[in-house]
Amino acid sequence: MHLISKHLHHTLVWGLMGLCLSACHSSSSPTYRIGLSQCSDDAWRQKMNYEMERELLLHPEMTLSMRIADGSNELQCAQIDSFIRERVDLLIVSPNEAEEVKPAVTRAYRAGIPVIVADRRVTGDEWTAFIGGDNYKVGELMAQYIVESQRAKTVNKPFIVLEVAGLPGSTPATLRHKGMMDGLPDNVKVFSVMGSWLQENAYSVVLDFLEKHNNVDAIVAHNDLMAIGAAEALKKSKTYRGRNVPIMGVDGIRPGLQAIVDGKIDCSATYSSRGDMVIATAAQILHGEPFKRDTVLETTMIDEVAAYPMLRQYEGIMRDLETLHIVKTQSQSKWKQLQTDNMFLFTGMVVFFCLLLLAVVYILFRQRKLQSEINHEIIPQLEDMQEAIMLSRKDEAFAQHLHQVVQDHLTDPNLNVESLSSMLQMSRTQLFRRVKAVTGKGPLDYIREQRLIHADQLLRSTDMTVQQVALELCFSSPGYFTKCYKEYYGHLPSVR
Ligand code: FRU
Repeated sequence: MHLISKHLHHTLVWGLMGLCLSACHSSSSPTYRIGLSQCSDDAWRQKMNYEMERELLLHPEMTLSMRIADGSNELQCAQIDSFIRERVDLLIVSPNEAEEVKPAVTRAYRAGIPVIVADRRVTGDEWTAFIGGDNYKVGELMAQYIVESQRAKTVNKPFIVLEVAGLPGSTPATLRHKGMMDGLPDNVKVFSVMGSWLQENAYSVVLDFLEKHNNVDAIVAHNDLMAIGAAEALKKSKTYRGRNVPIMGVDGIRPGLQAIVDGKIDCSATYSSRGDMVIATAAQILHGEPFKRDTVLETTMIDEVAAYPMLRQYEGIMRDLETLHIVKTQSQSKWKQLQTDNMFLFTGMVVFFCLLLLAVVYILFRQRKLQSEINHEIIPQLEDMQEAIMLSRKDEAFAQHLHQVVQDHLTDPNLNVESLSSMLQMSRTQLFRRVKAVTGKGPLDYIREQRLIHADQLLRSTDMTVQQVALELCFSSPGYFTKCYKEYYGHLPSVR
């Protein structure tokens, strides 16, 4: 019993603590919901997402919900519209294509939702802040690389470059192309094919191009994945087998760095994602603090010398970010579990206390009912019974007294209603009522009955004659005595 109560005590204490904890948590729980619309999902985007997640650890007041558009403008617009309907507190958009996604971004902005455009831009200026790489500078670095590659070649003839472009409607593709074109000398001839940011696309369009043109001097791709696709196509191409064509990519994260280390591509221009900066800016906007409206991130060239240490460093960063992601997911699921447990405990306690309350109310109700039954039914009955007992005791005493007085005066000719009522000290009416109550007959009949009983005893136990007995017991005549005797006993009086 003691053990059970101790256990119950512990359960209650922990339960209450759990409830307090969840109450504390909910008081500091997120107050801002951020919607993130990502145009696609790849290593570069994942890095950006992880960086955001890490920065969010510093901002428990914000939660992030992400939707990925898989490279589709329609899907991205629909996802942005759903964020608008859900009235997120802030929207982060990395647009798939500038013109196509602009209407949805404008709708969000006009709905009063602060919008941060990240990485790729949208046309117009209906957005709150922009953070992204310097794509024009990336293009310039591509031109610089082409010029250097051309210089390495001794033969003086037109230099043919194959550009593998990203989605044409995206600002990085447009600006990278422009930056490159602006930086190239006249003797460089550029052919463009569209890889739409994807390795497999780049592979097939480049292979197709190489099969038709055997004079490509250098390949520049708008990102590393397409540069790797181009390298695979080059390797595959019968026309170029064994020929060294320099290849440059953009992004400078794991796949690109590894490709440089492995000698598949020559170099890459860095293209920062800075998800952490995006979240920090979101916090500034939401807290009404000053923020920078347009942030353009630095870019730099990575060659085979820089690639190896950068790869190691990058892998370290990614491991940390991935571990952080795992820990965060685990802690979220544990926290959810804790909340479910608390909810379960709370519901259990509520049900328990409700049942207890019901039981108490029922018992109180029943007590009142029983009390009223006792007061209104049982007690009056008991009182009636007590009264009846008292009455019967009185009657008994009266009956004995009556019997005694009558016995003492059986032979007294003056024994009648008058004398009896004065001996018993009551009125004639009272005497009549009480004698009737205890004997069932009137006083005269009772006296006569007692005289007959005594007469019978005398006849049985003495030598007295019927006349003597009739006289002794004050009957008016022996004939009257005989009549009364016969009526009472059913036979004539006789001497023994
Ligand atoms: C990733 C990516 C990068 C590229 C950037 C341009 O989704 O394609 O490879 O540099 O987007 O926005």
